[in-house]
Amino acid sequence: MKVCVIGTGYVGLTTGVSLAFLGHEVTCVDLDQAKVDMLRGGKCPIYEPGMEDLLAEAAQNLTFTTSYEEAVPGADVVFVAVQTPSAEDGSPDLRYLRRAAELVAQSLNHEFTVVVNKSTVPIGSGNWVDAILRDSFEQRADRPEGVEFAVASNPEFLREGNAIADTLYPDRIVIGSDNARSLEVLNRLYRPIINQTFTPPTFLPRPEDANAVPLVSTDLASAELIKYAANAFLALKISYANEIGQLAAKVGADITEVARGMGLDQRIGSRFLQPGVGWGGSCFGKDTKALIATASEYNLDMPIVKAAREVNSRQRAIAVERLQDELRILKGRKIGLLGLAFKPNTDDLRDAPALDIANSLIARGARVKLHDPVATGRFRIEQPELSAYLSETIDDVFADCDAVVLVTEWAQYLELDWSKFVGLMRTPILLDGRHVLDADRMRRLGYRYVAVSG
Ligand code: UDX
Repeated sequence: MKVCVIGTGYVGLTTGVSLAFLGHEVTCVDLDQAKVDMLRGGKCPIYEPGMEDLLAEAAQNLTFTTSYEEAVPGADVVFVAVQTPSAEDGSPDLRYLRRAAELVAQSLNHEFTVVVNKSTVPIGSGNWVDAILRDSFEQRADRPEGVEFAVASNPEFLREGNAIADTLYPDRIVIGSDNARSLEVLNRLYRPIINQTFTPPTFLPRPEDANAVPLVSTDLASAELIKYAANAFLALKISYANEIGQLAAKVGADITEVARGMGLDQRIGSRFLQPGVGWGGSCFGKDTKALIATASEYNLDMPIVKAAREVNSRQRAIAVERLQDELRILKGRKIGLLGLAFKPNTDDLRDAPALDIANSLIARGARVKLHDPVATGRFRIEQPELSAYLSETIDDVFADCDAVVLVTEWAQYLELDWSKFVGLMRTPILLDGRHVLDADRMRRLGYRYVAVSG
């Protein structure tokens, strides 16, 4: 099928490259010429493991352009995957989405096109995009005859760092539209994934437990709500583990054991119960905020979602309090942070706990050293006002420190020879922000091991 993808951020690029890999003919549009040039050269503008390999494997079906006129005509499906940043009041800023819908409408010329909202948009945005498309299309002087289109929602559940596997081997695919033909088209588009009939990419074999993928084919509003409901649920699952973690610390229980014991109940499930400094990233914060904002438009309170957000910011504050408990005085102390990205395998710093923790330590007079395997480049560009020192080496983060905090559980940190660094520190306080290090072992090595919960 012929596919057009607007926007080459995480979601757009993963969608475009994956569909091209599956054999569809895909054109990706981005108004940023520099990004398009990079992608044409086979380079990926974001850090995402495997993306350049998939780009190479999908190259013959993939075109990049800055021009809607080149990409939209003839497309069976147009995915709109532009950014929807939070506006000041917390509601998503839909400017880019509006602009994209207007430009798509200028170029529609196919007998039937499904326009798919792939960006996380507030519930009701499908109708809104539909109205914009229709208005802009009606106003066209060169309006072609016999052109039909409909709007659908196809929420994305990919995790950064895992984007390709989450797309090719998803738990489910959700499509929603109030137009039956759109659902048929999307069903056809995703057949190779639903039935798992494609030959896996050489670098990413099909997981042994991969089965046919369930398809949830539903109405527009339900598909839009599924995305928010799922993300908010994951966010509150983590916050619940963190809330229990604080109680565990008080009663002398080990939260890691508690989470394991809970997670083995299949009704609960073990994933997203990892306690620590809490969630960050582009989705959970934004989506929980947007869900609360949507509900308030209907005079509905969302106390559970609100509490999940409160617990999450409290975890970041608690990390700093733990250091204060250990060091008594933070002023003048040197503190190293291992990990800047909001989670491993990404260079994304959006809503990263490390930034809040660093800012809070600096505000209390501490000096902060930062280390990250991939995110320091982005940090320099995006956080010029955060006055911390960037360490190039692990030795350097530990050197002369009064405490080191493991903020992001990058594999290379877990695999460190931890015996080598304790001697470099002024006081060997090690705060495990993710509950991933072996406390007993760290203590034997000479660290004063503390964790965010317990
Ligand atoms: C998330 C959703 O998983 C994805 O389905 C959605 O579409 C987009 O948002 P992402 O933001 O890439 O994806 O990251 P994810 O892997 O879900 O992690 C989110 C945050 O939760 C990270 O900061 C991570 O460190 C934290 N986390 C995750 C925990 O603190 N504990 C856990 O047990 C799991």
